[in-house]
Amino acid sequence: MMKTIFSGIQPSGTITLGNYIGALRQFVELQEDYDCFFCIVDEHAITVQQDRLELRKNIRSLAALYVAVGLDPSKATLFIQSEVPAHAQAGWMLQCVAYIGELERMTQFKDKSAGKEAVTAGLLTYPPLMAADILLYGTDLVPVGEDQKQHLELTRDLAERFNRKYNNIFTIPEVRIPKEGARVMSLQEPMKKMSKSDSNQKAFITLLDEPKQIEKKIKSAVTDSEGIVKYDKENKPGVSNLLSIYSALEGIPVADLEQQFSGKGYGDFKQAAADVVIKHLAPIQERYYELIDSEELDQILDEGAQKARRRAEKMVKKMENAMGLGRKRK
Ligand code: AQP
Repeated sequence: MMKTIFSGIQPSGTITLGNYIGALRQFVELQEDYDCFFCIVDEHAITVQQDRLELRKNIRSLAALYVAVGLDPSKATLFIQSEVPAHAQAGWMLQCVAYIGELERMTQFKDKSAGKEAVTAGLLTYPPLMAADILLYGTDLVPVGEDQKQHLELTRDLAERFNRKYNNIFTIPEVRIPKEGARVMSLQEPMKKMSKSDSNQKAFITLLDEPKQIEKKIKSAVTDSEGIVKYDKENKPGVSNLLSIYSALEGIPVADLEQQFSGKGYGDFKQAAADVVIKHLAPIQERYYELIDSEELDQILDEGAQKARRRAEKMVKKMENAMGLGRKRK
């Protein structure tokens, strides 16, 4: 039987080059060999308050980008999390299996709650909802960027705990992290990951940025004063980040790029990196604008939700049964 893949992206802004290289781009390859479920995790996005119109726009936009980068609805199931109520149901059950201590140890929770006066409970219980997303489909493999590794480990722990305490119903999923570009860094603070919700617009490139914006952002990316194009993550995080992006997009080893740009300044290198990014995003953007207001997109999402619901509801029934919720049914 074909193995199952699940992954999701939050519609908390327009997705970045980091989301693309770290996650989305792998999805396209994987859809050929796996039974894939790719979700727009809008319920995760509301762990931080969103503007309602903005959120609606971002959900649709992410759906169009899924298709625009090459996800094929006849091969992969593309759907919106909140349109499949099983996610919230299973998320609750898994919250009742998770411990507060382990949730408080998650670095994403620590990062996102740091310095905030009011932190939502949802920000803390995000990982059990993510575990639900994954476990509902009997997922074997979860392709994500490196930042999600810790959440994946917790998902495995929760699945094992549930299997042990209640009934052995969950497949224990494996994580799949790309070799190149697993962690694309901020263009402004290259020790921090590139994030779509960064308050500094210059820190990230979105998949919908125009060529001029891309060029400007890469040209103003923080580097160092050495003037040598060399990969050294510790001492030259900015240059290393641009090298990684270039290498991941073009499939050229970093060492070859170092050679290609040896003796050249950062100006030339940044221009070449910008050109590469622009070239890769152009066809995606073209397809995006064809799709964004189309009925085709609604049809894809309706069908995706229906398929996901059918599969996820079965697992919710199994979970309820294992925990003793509701009434016994034949
Ligand atoms: N900088 C990154 N480099 C490589 N991969 C990344 N991912 C995110 N940032 C990078 C991968 O993208 C997928 C979707 O992530 P998400 O949107 O669900 O949440 P996130 O990881 O929190 O992404 P952002 O962009 O940082 O969102 P905000 O700013 O809203 O928190 C995941 O597979 C992730 O690994």
